[in-house]
Amino acid sequence: MRTRRWRLVIFAVLWLGLVRPASAAAQPTLRVTSPNGQNAVTITLRDGTLRYDVQRQGRAVLLPSRLGFEFRGAPPLGDSLRIVDSARTSKDETWTQPWGEVARVRDHHNELRVTAEETTARRRRFSVTFRVFDDGVGFRYELPEQPGLTDFEITDERTEFAFADNARAWWIPSNRPRLDRSEMLYSSAPVSTLDSVQTPVTLELSDGHTVAVIHEANLVDYPRMFLAGRGMENRTLSAALAPMSDGVKARGRTPFETPWRTIQLADKVTDLVPSLLALNLNPPSEITNTDWIKPMKYVGIWWGMHLNTMTWSSGPKHGATTENTKRYIDFAAKNGFGGVLVEGWNVGWDGDWIANRNAFSFTKAYADYDLPGVAAYAKQKGVKLIVHNETSGGLANYERQLDSAYTLYRSLGLDAIKTGYVADTVGGNHSHYSQVAVRHHRKVIETAAKYGIMLDVHEPIHDTGERRTYPNMMSREGARGQEYNAWSADGGNPPEHETILFFTRLVDGPMDFTPGIFDIQMKRPTGTPKQYAEPHVRTTLAKQLALYVVLYSPLQMAADLIENYEGQPAFKFIRDVAVDWDTTRVIEGKIGDYVVVARRERNGQSWFVGAITDEEARTFDVPLSFLTAGRKYVAEIYADGPGANWSTNPLPITILSRPVDSTTRLRMALAPGGGQAIRIRPAP
Ligand code: NOJ
Ligand code: CA
Repeated sequence: MRTRRWRLVIFAVLWLGLVRPASAAAQPTLRVTSPNGQNAVTITLRDGTLRYDVQRQGRAVLLPSRLGFEFRGAPPLGDSLRIVDSARTSKDETWTQPWGEVARVRDHHNELRVTAEETTARRRRFSVTFRVFDDGVGFRYELPEQPGLTDFEITDERTEFAFADNARAWWIPSNRPRLDRSEMLYSSAPVSTLDSVQTPVTLELSDGHTVAVIHEANLVDYPRMFLAGRGMENRTLSAALAPMSDGVKARGRTPFETPWRTIQLADKVTDLVPSLLALNLNPPSEITNTDWIKPMKYVGIWWGMHLNTMTWSSGPKHGATTENTKRYIDFAAKNGFGGVLVEGWNVGWDGDWIANRNAFSFTKAYADYDLPGVAAYAKQKGVKLIVHNETSGGLANYERQLDSAYTLYRSLGLDAIKTGYVADTVGGNHSHYSQVAVRHHRKVIETAAKYGIMLDVHEPIHDTGERRTYPNMMSREGARGQEYNAWSADGGNPPEHETILFFTRLVDGPMDFTPGIFDIQMKRPTGTPKQYAEPHVRTTLAKQLALYVVLYSPLQMAADLIENYEGQPAFKFIRDVAVDWDTTRVIEGKIGDYVVVARRERNGQSWFVGAITDEEARTFDVPLSFLTAGRKYVAEIYADGPGANWSTNPLPITILSRPVDSTTRLRMALAPGGGQAIRIRPAP
């Protein structure tokens, strides 16, 4: 009897709390909160339009924001609606990643699915599923099978993100003509001034500590989402989908699901990483046996081409020769590296390789490169040869050769590929990020999985958590990497660059930034073209080391020419640093200023700490309380040396060892544009 009364009370409280009439005659308002109650989403219907808002700790983050679609050849779907159904579920499950920034991931959320139907004669309907986690919110649309909506062409998605305050956004543009990629420098500006930006976009709210990241998850068969501002001091960002060449954004047929739109939330910026929201919104792995998928460090025939001392194309400076490759394989084997990347091995690079995109062969090697020979040599030395497939955006040309190329690679025992998409539009003038491109990338991931091949994608579609379903999709570029320090007309990446990347691009997933340039000043012979003579790496040497810990990638390159590592004591850190992590802790951080991160290696007891700063010198006092209490460790410290600074004196480095334990506080002094890298291993 008592229990029944309690049940009634609980029911009444829940009903009052979760389902409130918006006005006497109006539809109910639906609400769903995160497991710890901090985040709440409210769904309202007003004047026939469905809207959602997001609150954190009772404070509005997003004001009521519109939902819906526009179509070619059919009226918009989003007006004259009524809510016809709602359903709730919850989940609390922990799963293990085959590799990652952390080993274990908890998926703990409450879900609310709301179905709306038009009150007009067509009676089309759609559902929106909200999943509310303690670290943010994801929602996606479903267009169920129905008589009034079968084949469709979406011209616009009406999703809005109406910011409650004029948050400061860290962004890169999405509307640069001839640069339909993601390789720009970041800016920061109030959300009300944004025009068109890429996601993930990171926003610092005006309370001075809360941060939000807008992005997407599980992008499979739909265009990439950008965000468009409205101007006129408006704080609302709207979804802006990358178009196909005819202007249509997405073609499909019901039943259909969009990717998740995500709003990651944290009380402070250092809590944004590791970012697990998108992973939880992707389906579990399709690959049952993942033993062959292995994080690794690699060297490669690569930087020489960016410095213009070698070429991808054939000729006297050709980098990808059999002899050169064997030299790299020997170096990799001697220093414990997993792989050797070789670019420019295949026919197609001669002439304008961007314009001649359909001339690339992915099976035919240049005459001075013995592919089976170097593959056998690598195997004998226990090193993986990483095959390079630059497509220049020739999607059909690559797709035609996928099976023959992957069959060949596997027959030679090769199971890792770096792809590239240097192109502003792809496959017949579609946006680099259109539905056509997204389908292509998914096809490549699935085909590679079928053949047992790991992928590292440059000029990719941004990471939306695919690695959970296809752990062979390991790393990608998708931002300005080290290559810009070799040739960019603006003199390379500024000292603050990586302190921004960590809280923006890297929030969506691993990045193949390619750290580890030791010849920082790159003194070039007289007569070197200005473009290559001027830029140089705007960091200290210690900061190049710290990037291995700060910028996560399961495929981590030692990017310099191998001769530049010979006889360098600092190279020991690159040899020692782990590439797969059990635990990740961000200790200090401010976007655009500095980052200090500690990570424990997977299946081991060693910790690595990476600290980087912008152009300002900084000192950190880091408690090593993350170490196991009572255990003795040795810290091997690679610090900026006396007088070091990024612009005139980047090379001084002080390397020392000292005993530490969980009670130690480490004072870390970073030079202007500097960094510090530490390996903390259990004492013998
Ligand atoms: C751009 C990639 O980011 C770079 O790593 C590669 O070397 C060139 N394209 C050539 O494919
Ligand atoms: Ca690139």
